[in-house]
Amino acid sequence: MTSPTQATAAPRHAGARDRAELRRAAVRVLLRNWTGRSTLPSRSLYPHQWSWDSAFIALGLRHVSPRRAQQELESMLGAQWTDGRLPHIVFDPATPPDAYFPGPGFWTPETAAAQTPAGTSTTGIVQPPVHAFAAWETHLADPGESRRRGFLRRAYPRLAAWHRYLARHRDLGGSGLAAIVHPWESGMDNSPLWDGLLERVTPWPPGSFQRRDLDHAAGGDRPTDLDYGRYLRLAADYRDHGYDDAATPHAFAAEDPSFNALRIVSEHALARIAAETGHDPQPHESRARELTRALTASLYDPGAGLFLARDLVGGEPVREYGAAGLVPLAVPGLPVAGELLATARGERFRLGATRLVPSYDLTGHAFDPHRYWRGPGWFNVSWVIHRGLMLHGAAQDAAALRASLLAAASSTGFAEYVDPYSGEGHGTRDFSWTAATALDLLAQEEAAA
Ligand code: SER
Repeated sequence: MTSPTQATAAPRHAGARDRAELRRAAVRVLLRNWTGRSTLPSRSLYPHQWSWDSAFIALGLRHVSPRRAQQELESMLGAQWTDGRLPHIVFDPATPPDAYFPGPGFWTPETAAAQTPAGTSTTGIVQPPVHAFAAWETHLADPGESRRRGFLRRAYPRLAAWHRYLARHRDLGGSGLAAIVHPWESGMDNSPLWDGLLERVTPWPPGSFQRRDLDHAAGGDRPTDLDYGRYLRLAADYRDHGYDDAATPHAFAAEDPSFNALRIVSEHALARIAAETGHDPQPHESRARELTRALTASLYDPGAGLFLARDLVGGEPVREYGAAGLVPLAVPGLPVAGELLATARGERFRLGATRLVPSYDLTGHAFDPHRYWRGPGWFNVSWVIHRGLMLHGAAQDAAALRASLLAAASSTGFAEYVDPYSGEGHGTRDFSWTAATALDLLAQEEAAA
């Protein structure tokens, strides 16, 4: 006969074993994808260092080796351009140039080479500025080791220059918010948010380029050839204008709520880093406040209860509802957090009923549960929203999302993204930020127990 105590003890023990096994499996992914300097998002599909991936990877890596998490970020910061931008990809010299398309040969004419550190080959576009936030969290994992290595002392000027680049060169709309000039800069490449804006872009003809992504992932999970034709046209135009933000006649320019919200989160972190390293935190605190005001005034749509992107070429809000519009939930002191929470729980995102937060409106005309950023749930976005839920007092929703993220990471072998309804994995497997966010959530779960 089983006593009530034994009956409850057994599953708890099994749960602990599962958690330990999940942790070991996640660590194995990060070790396998480590190159000696940084972590590949995926050995097959993304065989270089990606900018926002690195920041999320550091958040997990800090629980395994704070020093390696520091190195991950230092490797990205080491590729900073003279104008302050952090490139979206740092190409790994050990990877054959044709393993990823568009590779180093596409991105780096002489103009770009003049701006990158010697011996470094990078793209010229950027990705969401999550780095200062990741650097601060990495420091907190082992402040003693961080101080001994002078981690923040060396990182601060570079992080501050990165944020200055965005303020000086990317305020294309004049609101103070940063503009993205390529859908890849949002990190949410083929989100339906960008469809209408991309219609103005003349695609490179099919057959004029050879994709490599389809060697490693199902065609139905990835962007289309037409998407790629447009991505290449935009990137080549920017490149051919020397990646000069003022000189390029941008056919695509948008204020993305997710990019700017993550920038604000990082600006708050910069204030802490400044204080820790003997600099003045005040300018960062004021900027974070100003940007929060600008974000809410320019991009919040009270009717939708969501932040919308703004098309800077057409001058109109983009009336598509994506998870990018929920990311501001992670901003401290957000005045419309309650409204965003209601939207997250509503029919468009169904927080609690979906496995991960869907990347796009479940009721939207373009919703596709399998295709890249057009519906699937992504672990980094759900991780950020989990943080927002904690920040704004929705602890129960946060705990449920955390459990669901961990279950999906485990059952899919650390898939890149999942069907938000079934939890079925899509894209590549052994994906680094899936393993890293799982590691961080396991640590949070343990701390909460
Ligand atoms: N996410 C893009 C890709 O699929 C580029 O950052 O390659």
